[in-house]
Amino acid sequence: MKQFISVHDVNNIDALVQKALAYKASPFADKNLGINKRIGCLFLNPSMRTRLSTQIAAQNLGMECIVFNVGQEGWALEFEDEAIMSGNSVEHVKDAAPILGKYFDILAIRTFPSLKNREDDYSELYIKQFIKYAGIPVVSLESATLHPLQSLTDIITIQENLLNSPLGDRDKPKIVLTWAPHVKALPQCVANSFAQWINAWGKADFVITHPEDYELSEEFTKGATIIKNQEEALKDADFVYVKNWSTYRDYGKIYANDPKWQLKKKRWAVTNNAKVMHCLPVRRNVELNDEILDGPMSIVTQQASNRVWAAQAVLSEILRNND
Ligand code: CP
Repeated sequence: MKQFISVHDVNNIDALVQKALAYKASPFADKNLGINKRIGCLFLNPSMRTRLSTQIAAQNLGMECIVFNVGQEGWALEFEDEAIMSGNSVEHVKDAAPILGKYFDILAIRTFPSLKNREDDYSELYIKQFIKYAGIPVVSLESATLHPLQSLTDIITIQENLLNSPLGDRDKPKIVLTWAPHVKALPQCVANSFAQWINAWGKADFVITHPEDYELSEEFTKGATIIKNQEEALKDADFVYVKNWSTYRDYGKIYANDPKWQLKKKRWAVTNNAKVMHCLPVRRNVELNDEILDGPMSIVTQQASNRVWAAQAVLSEILRNND
């Protein structure tokens, strides 16, 4: 693996999942793989799970990890080529990234979308400029449109639950991604990425449900069944992934915030005793209620704890392939 920006950087999803599960069973199996190597984790936006799990994963491999909260502590970066920098930006990525490429062996970056201009966000300019100018492998810690470490974690968690509770005579689990209400306009990254990975994985009956006008980009959803009626979509589901996203077509808007879309126990009852997933952080009693989050159906803590093994599997692959 040369970089980790999307599912397209992965040759074999199942092999990567198995590698992550092997690290979960034996966290220090490759404790010398990253000796004398350094990863720089740049955060242009806030994080808890991604930041800490990536640090732990790097340490498990013997790597040094340096975190830089660029968004709070660094110079304001410019990303546009040929920009006349007479505004707020102080340093061009063209100047900063090559230096980071000398300091580190791997560069990991979190950069959220603006949600103001779809073409700009979906061009993934920020992460692409780091790839172009850093000259070392780049790992996405969530970009403008995708969150691949989260999606790998999600499949690891689904796989673990399938191992513990097989499907009987069915050959595929039913996985439903459902939109949920939220008070803020959120990126489409987690939903896009989950759809992209589940479609590429190809081992699920995959359904997406959302209110009218909340269609995601077909670039990511193609292959999934879209059902606008949540109750119908949830029928017999084995896994329900709950997530809010803002509108894609009329970009970055909140059209609906209907609490009817919050997954309640009564509606969950139509599922096949489904495990409920969420990437976290979650707004309790807005996106998901206490009854679900604190109930036996919730696997959100298991899911978030698996972030370490996802990051460790990815870093390990990059270390092995970039010597
Ligand atoms: N799910 C996730 O990426 O969490 P953080 O924003 O806390 O990193």
